[in-house]
Amino acid sequence: MAKDTLTITDNRTGTNYEVPITNDTIRAMDLRQIKVNDDDFGMMSYDPAFKNTANTKSTITLVDGEKGILRYRGYPIEQLAKKSTFLEVAYLILNGELPNKEQGDKWNYEIMHHTIIHENIRQLMQNFRYNAHPMGMFISTVAALSTFYPEAKDIRNENIRNIQIQRLIAKVPTIAAFTYRHNRGLPVSYPDNDLSYTGNFLNMMFKMTEMKYEPDPVLERALDVLFILHADHEQNCSTAAMRAIGSSNVDPFSAMAGAAAALYGPLHGGANEAVLRMLKEIGDVKNIPAFMNKVKDGERRLMGFGHRVYKNFDPRATIIKEAAEDVFKITGRNPLIDIALELERIALAEDYFIERKLYPNVDFYSGIIYQAMGLPVSMFPVMFAIPRTIGWLSQWQEMLLDDEQKIARPRQVYLGEGERDFVPEANR
Ligand code: CMC
Repeated sequence: MAKDTLTITDNRTGTNYEVPITNDTIRAMDLRQIKVNDDDFGMMSYDPAFKNTANTKSTITLVDGEKGILRYRGYPIEQLAKKSTFLEVAYLILNGELPNKEQGDKWNYEIMHHTIIHENIRQLMQNFRYNAHPMGMFISTVAALSTFYPEAKDIRNENIRNIQIQRLIAKVPTIAAFTYRHNRGLPVSYPDNDLSYTGNFLNMMFKMTEMKYEPDPVLERALDVLFILHADHEQNCSTAAMRAIGSSNVDPFSAMAGAAAALYGPLHGGANEAVLRMLKEIGDVKNIPAFMNKVKDGERRLMGFGHRVYKNFDPRATIIKEAAEDVFKITGRNPLIDIALELERIALAEDYFIERKLYPNVDFYSGIIYQAMGLPVSMFPVMFAIPRTIGWLSQWQEMLLDDEQKIARPRQVYLGEGERDFVPEANR
């Protein structure tokens, strides 16, 4: 019978090693026994950007990049996007099971009754420059929350952990909306807890002088679907950051500020902003061929295309494309969609993209929807951060409860100078 082991021959010494294979992986620490002599530190694996390194076992999200599959706790994203709500999916991701009626009602109540932020936080936000980037404000404000809830440091206490998780899920839409109002020079619109999670968000974004804001049900639902799609994506850059920072046992607000900072980058959650800027720059379908030549010459990247894991298609992009049509029925068609569709059509037929398995990702269309809803491009990364909060917190908690995890501390291959003596400045 085949054994679940890997035999490694070190040709430097002729020694054979047998290491166990579990879940199709070997433990990097099992390589350490491979040495040329007793003074040797032992072999390590070298994997910049963790392209082939699992840093955790997880039961939360499955992404099968070859097949274009995304599942939260086993449920296909297509079914969740069609039949569930964001708050229900948030409960599922966090707890592992869909809530029954009682659990769901309690969860909705808890979240919708933690939406208000302390007035000092609102004042703190007002002190940003009038044109501060909303994502910069978001990151800083999330970090500042840790000073308002010092008990959050007690990360081993389950009750305290749960309260911080609820607080963060409840307050991120408020913080996000306040960054927008600040940018627009508008007074803030306080939460309305009678509304749904996304309905209330629209209220905090767009309410003007009306007594009660009534969200458009189509936009409310489209936003809910977008939030479901962005809720978690296993070990992406910002989640890996959340786990790494959290592994130092810092409070979740500080860890999440770091995760949000990782999301801000244009290769990650900043991509939807970059897509919109790119589409605007192209400006017209007739300019696409010239732009594509630049991409193929390596001068430009086709933002919103490509993914580290999806090498077939991004299932989220397919769902978002449908949601876009629903939104346009209310908001009117965003002319940039025609440029996007033509870019997609050309890219899917061109060898450059086919050979590299580059397909539209979730961010290729999300920005077009957000723009149609009236959001400025600078808000796009924030729109990603709101739903990803649940992914970050669930993955953070999973890391804390995992006995195998320790403070994240990678190794390096040192290739710098050997020891040398200090040279006084006059002799350099
Ligand atoms: N446009 C043109 N060429 C590309 C693109 C692109 N968007 N993405 C990858 N390539 C090329 C790249 O130049 C390389 O070609 P070559 O082999 O000739 O050097 C090849 O494809 C492999 O690229 P890579 O950079 O090694 O791939 P990666 O897995 O390290 O990067 C990525 C993944 C998402 C960072 C990258 O595809 C990218 O920069 N895409 C644009 C930004 C973007 O849309 N990001 C959002 C990702 S989805 C939302 C999220 O999870 O945040």
